[in-house]
Amino acid sequence: MITKDNVLKALSEVIEPDLRRDLVSLGMIENLTIEGATVQFTIVLTTPACPLKDHMKNACVNAIHLLVDKEAQVQVDFSSRVTTQRSESSVLQGVRNIIAVASGKGGVGKSTVATNLAIALRKEGAKVGLLDADIYGPSIPTMFGINEAPEMRTIDGRDLMIPLEKEGIKLLSIGFLMKPGQAVVWRGPMISSAIRQFMNDVAWGDLDYLILDLPPGTGDIHITLAQQFPITGALIVTTPQEVALADARKAITMFKMAGAEVPLLGVVENMSYFSPEDQPEKKYFLFGQGGGEKLSMESELPLLGEIPLYEQLRASADEGRFTLDSVSIYSEAFTKFARNVARQVALRNAVPASN
Ligand SMILES: Nc1ncnc2c1ncn2[C@@H]1O[C@H](COP(=O)(O)OP(=O)(O)OP(=O)(O)O)[C@@H](O)[C@H]1O
Ligand SMILES: [Mg+2]
Repeated sequence: MITKDNVLKALSEVIEPDLRRDLVSLGMIENLTIEGATVQFTIVLTTPACPLKDHMKNACVNAIHLLVDKEAQVQVDFSSRVTTQRSESSVLQGVRNIIAVASGKGGVGKSTVATNLAIALRKEGAKVGLLDADIYGPSIPTMFGINEAPEMRTIDGRDLMIPLEKEGIKLLSIGFLMKPGQAVVWRGPMISSAIRQFMNDVAWGDLDYLILDLPPGTGDIHITLAQQFPITGALIVTTPQEVALADARKAITMFKMAGAEVPLLGVVENMSYFSPEDQPEKKYFLFGQGGGEKLSMESELPLLGEIPLYEQLRASADEGRFTLDSVSIYSEAFTKFARNVARQVALRNAVPASN
């Protein structure tokens, strides 16, 4: 018999692979309706960028066919409520997760990875913000092709900056406040105060993920962010060669430092290899091979993505042409990576905060 009780009983046999509990007791099943042989319900995911969507859908359909009625017509919809470990009263109230994109070495692709992570998460339906935390060398204005001064507004008695918005992604960069070619020549304390303002005095609103594009190295900006803001986790970007790995290890050590502990979500290898367009099966490992994997193994962090070298990626960045719709050869690699990141964040949010 197809009844709500029987369907729920069947669905309570379906285990969420990461959280290792069943979908019903996790409260992930909503809007269950039954009309004749048609069973319809919504699975409420912990992130719209869930890599396990299809797996869970198939498991639910199979459970209903096996345990309730093999003729049942099962329609599964998805929605999401992005989880957070943050409490109501903390700073940046509407921001559920803050993800820092870091590396030791400069030029390995942090800004490229941060930008395309924001785009990929947005594409999946998440509410996303991107803060260019590289005060000395902002890249976001170039990569998104925008350079306007953000508006100031008084909201609830506070003067707040309104982030610019492109394709639904909220953007802020010190570059928006400077003339092209102008340089920041501030000392440490001013830099720290600028980064605090960019976090606190901004109408970020309601965000599932705020991505921070960090400068290279391990300086004042990193320490300020790590010590004063509840960062959900950091991603370490590296290229495959040993000189990049050595600097990436330093970044990992910094995030583990007492007093500034930031959980590490994983490693992403950028510029992994090059495949010519006319020979897509051929891979040239220009910077060596397996560096990201090596770093991931020795630091016991998951390898969340391997992003090849694409001429179009460099061109899009230089020409400010990153868009949500571009059907580009590189968006597949970033979608996969973004789903892995969202999964790691959801996993962290599922266990009580320990660090
Ligand atoms: N996978 C890739 N394929 C092709 N070009 C890339 C790739 N990743 C990054 N680039 C290019 O390499 C250059 C450096 O990238 P990016 O600015 O993202 O690095 P970064 O780590 O943020 O640098 P910095 O340390 O200066 O902040 C840019 O010109 C960018 O377009
Ligand atoms: Mg950068």
